[in-house]
Amino acid sequence: MASIKDVAAEAGVSVATVSRVLNSHPSVSPGARARVLAAVDTLGYRPNAVARSLRTDQTRTLGLVISDVLNPYFTELARFVEEEARALGYSVIIGNADERPELQDHHVRTLLDRRIDGLLVSPADGRSPLTLDAARSGTPMVFVDRWVPGVDVPVVRSDGRQAIRDLVGHLHRLGHRRLAIIAGPAATTTGRERVDAFRDALREHGLPLIDAYIGQGDFQAESGRRATEAFLALAEPPEVVFATDNLMALGALDAIRGHGLRVPRDIGLAAFDDIPWFLHTDPPITAISQPTAELARAAVRALADVIEGRPPSSVSLPARLVVRRSCGEGGAHAESAGRPEAPDVPGTPETPDHPASQRSNL
Ligand code: HPA
Repeated sequence: MASIKDVAAEAGVSVATVSRVLNSHPSVSPGARARVLAAVDTLGYRPNAVARSLRTDQTRTLGLVISDVLNPYFTELARFVEEEARALGYSVIIGNADERPELQDHHVRTLLDRRIDGLLVSPADGRSPLTLDAARSGTPMVFVDRWVPGVDVPVVRSDGRQAIRDLVGHLHRLGHRRLAIIAGPAATTTGRERVDAFRDALREHGLPLIDAYIGQGDFQAESGRRATEAFLALAEPPEVVFATDNLMALGALDAIRGHGLRVPRDIGLAAFDDIPWFLHTDPPITAISQPTAELARAAVRALADVIEGRPPSSVSLPARLVVRRSCGEGGAHAESAGRPEAPDVPGTPETPDHPASQRSNL
């Protein structure tokens, strides 16, 4: 493999000049620069990233610690994080916390050992000592999707409050009154916020959120199934179940079908997160869609700002309701009902080729 010395010999310049060209230093004559670049090309020289990181104290690498790589929402987030990072000249190493705080800390430790330039974290919960220490001791960090209150780190998240209000308004208009929720862990901000927003929205319609209609889940499918089993065992089961993430919706659907019940004839189902398979169930599932690509891009840009010494900003982007038919006749074409300002194209029918979940990423 060609070395920097070989490039210097081929170009007829010093090693220092080659180094200046590779680091885009301005004090190199155009002729020398051209000869160096031609030599790099001829010899197929690849700069040694490790050696360069020792010189510059930068690895141009970001760490991304996500809560659950098997959750399609986070998989999609990771995809767009990598894409934006690449556009800004960074590589990404991903750690999957599997919703476990101790695993989150393990990944944070490993990534810091690898001298990443900064960390994007979607915290599994707020009790990960190492993550908090790293944030407090000035490691460039941005929270994405979830955050830890009281920690001074920029947060890039989507705000689902209005979309949840729209969902409850939609269900109310359809005549549903017994509305249940499958909550995420109370240790996560997304777990708490979605229940709070749902409770507030019910209150606006004069409806209580009774304890029996709150299922405690953990953002995983099995917990959605268990919570729905419990709802179905009640003397008066709910008319609609709102799962606060896509995996718990999958579990809920399993339980409903396992009882030989039909959606929405026997019970309605709605979900937070909008993922492609929601379009392919019968009927397609009413969902709250997050601007995942925009979130990922904003998170990477905020982290690059921290790393590169610019003032970063926290970002909150609205989620939106996508009405399908899983809660009753809301209209197959009634995308984003209830929000006049929703950025959807009125009258555009949703088809598998043009699902709302993908439109939000264009
Ligand atoms: N957990 C699980 N699924 C999600 C989340 C979350 O915090 N946010 C969006 N989808």
